[in-house]
Amino acid sequence: MCGIVGAWLNQGGTENITDVLIEGLRTLEYRGYDSSGIGVLRTDIGSESSSSFVRIARRQGRLANLEEVLKDGSLQGANVGVGHTRWATHGEPSDGNAHPHTDGSNHIALVHNGIIENYLELRRELESEGVLFASETDTEVLTQLVGRAYGQTGDLAASLRLALRRVAGYYAVAVVGNQNGATELVCARQGPPLCIATLEDGAILASDVLALLPHTRDVTYLIDGDMAILKPGVISIERIDGEPGTSVEREVTHIDWDAEAASKSGYPHFMLKEIFEQPEVLGRAIFDRLKPLEGDVEFEGAGWTSAELNGIGRVQILACGTALHAGIVARYLIEGLARIPVEVDFASEYRYCDPVVSPGTLALAISQSGETADTLAAMRLARELGAQTMSICNVQGSTLTRDCGRNILTHAGPEIGVASTKAFTAQLIAAYLFALRLGRARGTIDETNGRKMIEELRHLRPKMEQLLTQEYSDSIRAIAKRHINAKGFLFLGRGVNYPIALEGALKLKEISYVHAEGYAAGEMKHGPIALIEPALTTLVINTEGRVADKVRSAIEQVKARGGPIIAVGSDPESQRLGEDVIDVPKTSEWLSPLLNVIPLQLFSYHFADLKGCDIDKPRNLAKSVTVE
Ligand code: M6R
Repeated sequence: MCGIVGAWLNQGGTENITDVLIEGLRTLEYRGYDSSGIGVLRTDIGSESSSSFVRIARRQGRLANLEEVLKDGSLQGANVGVGHTRWATHGEPSDGNAHPHTDGSNHIALVHNGIIENYLELRRELESEGVLFASETDTEVLTQLVGRAYGQTGDLAASLRLALRRVAGYYAVAVVGNQNGATELVCARQGPPLCIATLEDGAILASDVLALLPHTRDVTYLIDGDMAILKPGVISIERIDGEPGTSVEREVTHIDWDAEAASKSGYPHFMLKEIFEQPEVLGRAIFDRLKPLEGDVEFEGAGWTSAELNGIGRVQILACGTALHAGIVARYLIEGLARIPVEVDFASEYRYCDPVVSPGTLALAISQSGETADTLAAMRLARELGAQTMSICNVQGSTLTRDCGRNILTHAGPEIGVASTKAFTAQLIAAYLFALRLGRARGTIDETNGRKMIEELRHLRPKMEQLLTQEYSDSIRAIAKRHINAKGFLFLGRGVNYPIALEGALKLKEISYVHAEGYAAGEMKHGPIALIEPALTTLVINTEGRVADKVRSAIEQVKARGGPIIAVGSDPESQRLGEDVIDVPKTSEWLSPLLNVIPLQLFSYHFADLKGCDIDKPRNLAKSVTVE
């Protein structure tokens, strides 16, 4: 999704504004983009006017293309500006549609994330008044509205407020301007995230806190309807629909992650680094939460009493993509361990399917970023319909954690690779802990079984580490190489490992662009079996347990039709049937998804790497999908 940065540094400081903006955009690259640009305010030497004018550089493609253009030095000598990585919605990816946009006067540069829903109507109105447009974007409509008001009022904050009051849709927007010698940097949020911070000698804003971390750890998240006026050392927050000059207070959040946590630390890709971080994530996610003697867990922020947990009669899980797969695992855990009925919905479907929320419903939203537009909207709808809400989320301070009454933070640390890995396992851990807490509160898990579950969890880390040795990773690479020419992949799993089949297929297709399908093993004979042939590889996830022999029979059916099998998991019988075997240490059936998914992540990683794909930034994909 688009990324925004903006900064104002005091004149005479050591940092160059273009470097700060480019550096900020680099940390936002992981969100996915197809073009980028920056705009700064510069007073030209010899200019008769006291105003500065915007200078803009924009390029389609990677940030490196923009950096190439900047080498001409035309944007040097400024100390305030905005930058953007664009993910095209209105108008193709091109230099001209890239942000920032400016109006006819060249007094402002504006960047925007989101969608202006009534842009066509506004564009027609402006065109009928003689305004000429230079791009196909909805953003330029907003820019022209701001520019016209600015020409009349000379007050950028007032102009942005006026323009936003005419706009329907959702946005994060930042605009820099100068008229009659007065410079202003203003931003606003209605939907996509935006955070801001003061610096000793400046002020900075961005879509993601990661862009602020090299400068500060103390940040303020804007909430929907906020706008902020930034000056070096001073920030004032007002409401878009409020009185000009009436400021509101927002708390400053101290971020525990440092910039180092978001660097590759010697790994060739973020994805590989994040896969290898999973044992640490497990440690962080259970730290301080386990009560081994009581066979129970305690969450720091989720604040449920046992009586409240007993009042939950039904759970609706709302999520997208990988987080949805974690939600399906959570369904098996909560139903199996706490005996509460659970439904899992694509957040994007839930929004429009006229859902029924009965008394005692808990809507559980799962999201790494906490900013996925569909998940946020589904969760808000569930709340409006009377559900209690809770999130399992990785980003403290994100919109989701602010919106939900209760949150279980996953503590995975910043996840940069577009393909979610460590955030997924962290979601599974949170789900396991929540199911255990529910079961203990409702009496479906007694103290002895609770202790056993905790014991198994405590033994999981060394087993994960066994899967994350160089040798194990190399052996999976060798298997990936043997199947590099397969025309497609089928992933089969059953029970609590059915969602792991879905997740394995999603990982492979999103980073290597090869077709892969995840299926419930028992469903294979109802259709996908027609696909089986020597050119289609089937990965079967099988763990000793209730459904092991059923999954084995699916393997036999594939083999009987000449399909090659990669057997993944701890079931020795399945291993005997596979041409290739990926052994996984044994754990309880409930925890097996946490181990089984790791070799699948490694398989996808190596497969994509062998194919030469851009692993951390797969085509067409955004890390955080903040539009519908
Ligand atoms: O930030 P979220 O967890 O809400 O994101 C949901 C999906 O967009 C995300 O999991 C996506 O499917 C990943 N690219 C999968 O690797």
